Amino acid sequence: MTDLVQLASDNGIAVITINNPPVNALSPGVPEGISETLDQIANDGSVKATVLIGGGRTFVAGADIKEFGKMTSGKPRGAGLLPLLLKIEDSAKPVIVAIHGTAFGGGMELAMAGHYRVAVATAQFGQPEVKLGLIPGAAGTQRLPRLAGVSKAVEMCVSGTPVNADEALKLGIVDSIIEGDFLAGAIAFAREVAGKPAPKTRERNGKLGNPAENALIFSKAREAAAKKQRGLLAPARAIDAVEATTKMPFEEGCKFEQKLFIECLFSEQSKSLIHVFFSERETAKIPDIPKQTNIIPIHSAAVVGAGTMGGGIAMVLANAGIPALLKEADQAALDRGLATIQSNYANSVKRGRFSQQVAEERLKRITPTLTYDDFSDVDLVIEAVFEGMALKKSVFRELDRVCKPGAILASNTSTLSIDEIASATSRPESVIGTHFFSPANVMRLLEIVRGKASSQEVVATCMQLSKTLGKVGVLVGNCRGFVGNRMFGPYRREAQFLVEEGASVEAVDQALSDFGMAMGPLATGDLAGLDVGWRIRKEYRHLEVAGIRQPFLEDRLCELGRYGQKTGAGWYKYDDQRRAASDPAVGELIRKWVEEAGIAQRQISATEITDRCLYALVNEGARILEEGFALRASDIDIIYINGYGFPAHRGGPMWYANTMGLKKVCDRISEFHSQHGETWQPAPLLKQLAEQGKTFAEFGREQGATA
Ligand code: NAI
Repeated sequence: MTDLVQLASDNGIAVITINNPPVNALSPGVPEGISETLDQIANDGSVKATVLIGGGRTFVAGADIKEFGKMTSGKPRGAGLLPLLLKIEDSAKPVIVAIHGTAFGGGMELAMAGHYRVAVATAQFGQPEVKLGLIPGAAGTQRLPRLAGVSKAVEMCVSGTPVNADEALKLGIVDSIIEGDFLAGAIAFAREVAGKPAPKTRERNGKLGNPAENALIFSKAREAAAKKQRGLLAPARAIDAVEATTKMPFEEGCKFEQKLFIECLFSEQSKSLIHVFFSERETAKIPDIPKQTNIIPIHSAAVVGAGTMGGGIAMVLANAGIPALLKEADQAALDRGLATIQSNYANSVKRGRFSQQVAEERLKRITPTLTYDDFSDVDLVIEAVFEGMALKKSVFRELDRVCKPGAILASNTSTLSIDEIASATSRPESVIGTHFFSPANVMRLLEIVRGKASSQEVVATCMQLSKTLGKVGVLVGNCRGFVGNRMFGPYRREAQFLVEEGASVEAVDQALSDFGMAMGPLATGDLAGLDVGWRIRKEYRHLEVAGIRQPFLEDRLCELGRYGQKTGAGWYKYDDQRRAASDPAVGELIRKWVEEAGIAQRQISATEITDRCLYALVNEGARILEEGFALRASDIDIIYINGYGFPAHRGGPMWYANTMGLKKVCDRISEFHSQHGETWQPAPLLKQLAEQGKTFAEFGREQGATA
């Protein structure tokens, strides 16, 4: 027997313990170990029943995700686990699966093969495979409807959302919730059922419903998935697999599930989602910052500026249990900021996200102020005042004067140099960028901008803080626009050029939305406010290089006061609910403006639209990577997925380029270079990797990153 699985006995009850820390994943050796212990139990006349339990902090939290990657070149896991599950179910002595922590994915499938399930009150149950572009591959779609009913099984397999022990008990997934000593309780349960006929899940057909009701369940689920999980394969296949349960005998249903599982496993979508899963974990690894770096405890914080971002950031801190001062320049602005926070919390309560009491507790953690008087005690300050260097410097000079030594002084700037901001203080080592995305209390991304002088402790603390705040922190370097916005510039530039050259506003947004972007680039501009970029462009006009083409349509729209959603009109027009509609007036204006500018109009295909916008991202991403402003290509992918609505099932822009083949991408960029001029000069790194037949991931590894 492998040491991943142990067998003990307690007066006629065998106890099988899975010990594969940290999460008892079903790595090679675990199923084999369970199988061997079952043989021993079968041959041991003194054993009347078996308890199967996880050692450490959880039951089996899932399959070993690394194995999925290996499987596409070898044998799928399902084939390995299925026979074991049948063996458990066919065991003459009842098997009681005892669940604490989580029973997810393969763990859930394993649990459902037992004759009974008992759980602690905090346990969770789920089939989250869909989040990796997969469906359950070891009869999960066949056993779950038999325990929980067809409708719930569809919901769980399609959404991947787990249920808690209470709900699992009501649904029939769990037979008993155990209070007090868990193992002792599970053994007592086993004693009660020992010797009685044990129900096999695969033979329990009582909850499989009737054809008419089921047809409605499946058609509704398909409709919802097509809308909410647009373009995704796995949710559709999960529905097909559960439907098979209601139409085929168990064995055939399993074979059908297996076929669909393999289709998903070999899909680009699943490979991309698995890449995203590992890449997100990889962001925490910073080559020159050792794991044991001291983390500065953050007991309290302060936010300067209670506008769009400052208010959101104060909420993020309060939600994570960190009390925060919120400083404004004048009473009116402070009142406005607080009113927005209050209405956001009230909305969350209305939508049932949390209770009134929780909202009040959170609100109480935010202390409004007009002075820096109480800043001397805080461990962290996040500045979110207007975007202007002189103002930022004056705020940081003040912070330097009032804050205690060692306090972290962070700026939420989206374009300004962290080094220049830090130069206004006597302690640049304490200064760093924490670039939240709007709305700060919703968006998961946090770009952590490392200045020249930012200390290792300050960087490590902010990376850790991102987790405390429920964000994905990605470390980036201090260049203009950092990583995300620096790439977003060329992306939105191309979207505008395409309109100048003859594509309609709607066609540009539709092509990118069909690709999977949460929103088209022009609609995104309207959402963020076209005036933001306009103001920045006016400030930096002196940096523009003569002879390089600049988009001009947004400037013209802004000159007419069309700032986007906030003024009811931009690229689109908006009603008072901010619902967008095409605006024929914009079409007219554009036709007039481009004619005046002498730009030739032509038919533009959807492929050209996506290639130009997406490859503009990739080309700039390659420069950022080569210049060292991102640690690895996969960090750029995580930034785009969590901050810019890039579809996770495409893996992020750099991964997408890898899947297209860098040679093909580079050739297309060279073509655009000859057609559209200097801005399309292929990035040297892209050229080099394309020539060498390599991917961006390989470049990262050569640089010491492990993604
Ligand atoms: P905003 O205009 O909504 O808010 C700025 C607030 O700062 C105003 O309420 C103003 O009264 C206050 N303020 C000005 N001087 C102050 C002082 N000396 N002390 C205290 N408060 C002061 O601006 P927004 O959009 O919140 O932007 C803030 C920062 O966040 C900027 O650096 C911006 O570039 C950055 N950012 C903005 C994003 C967005 O989508 N709006 C996204 C990411 C970063």
